[in-house]
Parts: sequence; structure tokens; C-alpha cells
Amino acid sequence: NHGIGVLTSGGDSQGMNAAVRAVVRETLRQGHRCYLIREGYTGLITGNIDQATWEHVANVTHLGGSMIGTSRCDEFRTTDGRKKAAKIMFDRRIFHLIVIGGDGSLMGAQKLKEEWGRFGEELFAEGKITEEVANEGRELHLAGIVGSIDNDCIESDKSIGSDTALHRICEAIDGLVMTAQSHQRVFVVEVMGRHCGYLALTAAIAVEADYVFYPEIPPDDKWPEQLCHQLESVRKYGKRQNVIIIGEGVTNSKGMKIGGKQVKEEIETRLGLEVRIATLGHLQRGGEPTFLDRLLGLRMGHEAVLEVLKTTEDVGSPIAGQKTVAQVMCLRGHNIERNELSRVIRQTETANEEMQQRNYD
Ligand code: F6P
Repeated sequence: NHGIGVLTSGGDSQGMNAAVRAVVRETLRQGHRCYLIREGYTGLITGNIDQATWEHVANVTHLGGSMIGTSRCDEFRTTDGRKKAAKIMFDRRIFHLIVIGGDGSLMGAQKLKEEWGRFGEELFAEGKITEEVANEGRELHLAGIVGSIDNDCIESDKSIGSDTALHRICEAIDGLVMTAQSHQRVFVVEVMGRHCGYLALTAAIAVEADYVFYPEIPPDDKWPEQLCHQLESVRKYGKRQNVIIIGEGVTNSKGMKIGGKQVKEEIETRLGLEVRIATLGHLQRGGEPTFLDRLLGLRMGHEAVLEVLKTTEDVGSPIAGQKTVAQVMCLRGHNIERNELSRVIRQTETANEEMQQRNYD
């Protein structure tokens, strides 16, 4: 009988509850203990943990947000913080952990995994855990699930929540278009996504936006002329409104942030059109998850349980003694695939660094 803990970390995303549900139900179905770790890594450090029952996760799949709470936990970024978390896990005999979150959260989980053996030895040497518990927990069985609206995981076609966020963006812009049309206005819509332009770019296609700024291709210094030329040409054939989308994290070639205010000023000065800014903000993370995010959450939660239990068997197999390797659940086409967590984190980091380097060169 194993103890499997589940937590959500970083920004919440719609569909996380479906993943938690699947983790709990599959764990219990297989006769193991499941623990709901509340408020992200904060709960792991403070011991804010409840043993899950079957009923805990009834009627949750349709709910947005994270039913177990989430946080951006600064203490977990420190070795001391992670060691405190390890102590709690040894105390509760939780040696299987499923982390649902974005790249920062998964990176924290990978660090805990790498330090786990050392933490166990230290805690035993300090007399904080018994030899029996230290032995039982000599391995941390870890799996990651990408839950983030940003869709910025390099190996996954979709992260849990990104489909719903896009749905929210499209709904909001569809609404704006009607008022924009009535007043013949331009709407500059700011969307989330951190370093990743996925939300901005795909939403722009879906709502027939006239212009999009996204971080992967920073606009050159001529963007005001290009943008205004584009607006003029579509107005010429009778279009009464324009939508311009700006992804978060968009900078010019000198690394200076480009925001809605700057775009508005350029258009008003150059074209004399009326411009309004709409910052969609956390509405993008709100509301019920779409079917796709529910299903994705359920599938990934289920696979993650199979994964952590599989590594348990590996440790007891003829290749015993080999350390297990944490995997992250990724969507590839219609399939859920496993990828080595440390590699995915490295690749994502490198891609972000290369992009920033390229943009400022
Ligand atoms: O990572 C998800 C995300 O929504 C980003 O798109 C955004 O930059 C950030 O979180 C906002 O974070 P917070 O909710 O802490 O303001």
C-alpha cells in the first residue's frame, strides 16, 4: 500500500480538478492511499495535507480553478524549504508525488527528486526519521502533469487549461467586436501567456484579428507604420472595427516591453481612430473548463498514477538499485506520452533563453 500525494502549483488552470479527480480515483481503485496536498508546495512544507476519499472528488470535473488550492511558493525554491517538504513526506509516508503545474512548478519537483536521497540520509542522521522510514522512502516516485494556460511546455501539444483560456479569449473578443463595430473603434486586447505567444497567436487567427504581437517574433522598429498601414487597408474596404492582440511578454528589438497603451497612442496619433484597451487578465483563467481540458486532465491524472506505480515496480525489479527517472505526461497528437522531466525542463529553459537572446541581438 503506497501513499500518493497530489498537488497543484503556480497559476491555476481550468481542468486541474479533473486531473486531481483522476489521481484520487485511480489511486484508491488500486488500493493505495491518496493525499490532497493543499495550497501547492506551501501545503507540502507546512503539512496542510488531507487523506482523500472517493467522495472528495465527486462533482469537481466541471469546476474551474484548483479545488485543493495552489500557490507560487518562494520557500520551496530554497533547499531548506524542499528539505522541510521532504520531512513532511517521510512523516506521512508519501513517497509518490504527482505535481500539476507549469514549468517553474515542475522544475521545483525535479529538484526535490534530485535532492531526495540526500535529504533522506540527512534526516536520518539528524535523528528526525527512523531507519525503517528512511529505507521505505529511499526513492521518490515522481510524475509531472503540465497544467497551465500558457501552453509553453516544449514536448506537449496541449497543457491543461490552454483550450479553455482560448475559449474565454475568443468569447470576450466576440463580445468586443460588436461594440467596436457600433463606434467604429479599434480594440487593443492584451492577453496572458508569459514568454509564450501561443494564446495570442492562435486567438488572433480564430477571431480574425487585424494584427498580433507575440514574443517569439518581436516587432522591429517599423511596427507602428506596418500596423497603421494594415488598419488603413482593411478600413478601405469597409471594415468598421479592428482587433489587435498583444501577448504578454512582447518586447521590441531593444528588449523594451510593448503594451496596449503604446499601441493605442501610435494609432490615435497616426490615424486619428478611436482606440480602447481591453486587458483580459485573470478572466482567461476563469470559468468552467472546456470538454477538451476536462478530458485532458482526466487522462493525464490517470496516466500519472500508472507512471508513479510503474516506477515502484521498476525499483523492485532485476534492474533494482537504479534510480527512477521522473516523467512528465505530454499530449502528442491524440496520445499521452511520457517524457523525461529533467530533459523537458532543460529544453524549455534553453528555448526561452535562446528566444530572449535572439530577440535582443
Ligand atoms: O502562467 C500562467 C499565468 O496566467 C501567466 O499567463 C501569467 O503571466 C501569470 O500566470 C499571472 O500570474 P498571477 O496569477 O500570479 O498574477
